[in-house]
Amino acid sequence: PDPSPTPGRHLYRATYLHTPGNPFRDAQVLDVQQDGGLLVEAGRIVQNGDFAALARAHPDAVIHDLRGGVLLPGFVDTHVHYPQVRVLGGLGMPLLEWLDRNTLPEEARFSDALYARTVAQEFLSGLALHGTTTALVFGSHYAGAMEAFFGEAQRSGLRIVAGQVVSDRMLRPELHTTPDAAYREGLALAGRWHGQGRLLYAVTPRFSLSASESILDACAALLRDVPGARFTSHINENLQEIRTVADLFPQARDYLDTYEQAGLLGRRSVLAHNVHPQDRELAHLAAHGCSVAHCPCSNSALGSGFFPLARHVEAGVRVSLGTDVGGGTGFGMLKEGLQAYFMQQLMPGGRPLTPTDLLYLATRAGAEALDLQDVTGDFGVGRSFDAVLLRPAEGTPLGTVLRHAESAERTLAALFAMGGAPDVAQVWVAGDTVHGGPAPVRAPL
Ligand code: GUN
Ligand code: ZN
Repeated sequence: PDPSPTPGRHLYRATYLHTPGNPFRDAQVLDVQQDGGLLVEAGRIVQNGDFAALARAHPDAVIHDLRGGVLLPGFVDTHVHYPQVRVLGGLGMPLLEWLDRNTLPEEARFSDALYARTVAQEFLSGLALHGTTTALVFGSHYAGAMEAFFGEAQRSGLRIVAGQVVSDRMLRPELHTTPDAAYREGLALAGRWHGQGRLLYAVTPRFSLSASESILDACAALLRDVPGARFTSHINENLQEIRTVADLFPQARDYLDTYEQAGLLGRRSVLAHNVHPQDRELAHLAAHGCSVAHCPCSNSALGSGFFPLARHVEAGVRVSLGTDVGGGTGFGMLKEGLQAYFMQQLMPGGRPLTPTDLLYLATRAGAEALDLQDVTGDFGVGRSFDAVLLRPAEGTPLGTVLRHAESAERTLAALFAMGGAPDVAQVWVAGDTVHGGPAPVRAPL
């Protein structure tokens, strides 16, 4: 059974901030309520606005006093690898060497489903304790490890979109599968988990370097046969990777074309990195309605390059944020936002990012990338109550800065510049506490 929300109406009293629009397109998208209220019923927001007015109108509601902190929509991480928790922090290598030496040997351990289950628990707690409530998760190559993962994801209460990763060349033999098995195992996993509670399935070839045309075709068949499934992979991350993909697909116009020709692109397709795109690729990403998951900590750690955000925005390509654990440096979406800001500050032609842009990128942009904007990503009426309460301890520098902040933008900027897991006081998904706060109220499974 799914975790069921506490019955009745709940009125959350907090200083809350959210971005009910897209700051790359619209003006004035930051909504700030200093003494705000969110009225929640059956895990969904049914009214929002000023606390006092809501309290008068709904005297029956259970009041949750969250003052003394800042309430934000739960973060949405659109690129994060579950089997890479234990290889975080492996600095000093470019992508292909990092995969061979640091990462693929660890991913081979997931043939052991017990090992996989333990790491799945570590991974899901990593998300929750950083305030991430929704994630597009790159899975394991092993069906058994994915079965364990989905089971743990269900128990965690988080919103998880994930799938078995498939490859049929150039990794290491024990990680390879066949087009036939990729389709069959994916269909079985999706049949068991897609649409169950807060879980969705994502068709996930690792990247074109490790995928033959036949296995990409099998992925397209799976995507067709699992209605509502998402698609995710990697693209244009590293120059050596891009050259190898060009050699492997001599008939492709560019890297994107390898996915495009297979019929894998659409409104629910999320491609990670795209650090080195061609103009044609940007135009076609926009035309298909795809999103790009920007992972600035990973791009910096692996030396992949500067992400051309301005070119994406100008071409009309939607961009969200991903931590890319373990190529990145951890689960913190505030840190990821800060690194995105740093990167645009430092690169030639960078697009300056405002605190509102960062909040959007860390929340609503991710919900849009996953086509879950009606469910999560802001505090609009009808959304699920997915939220993170940031409340730094008394006497910490961030606590001091927030007490003296002169505007909501300054508050947001300080949260991104200085905030992290120690400041996350409580996290909710659909009104259920998934981290921190008083004892969880959801039913045991
Ligand atoms: N490209 C293919 N696999 C990976 C991976 O695990 N991490 C990153 N950053 N890029 C990849
Ligand atoms: Zn990745």
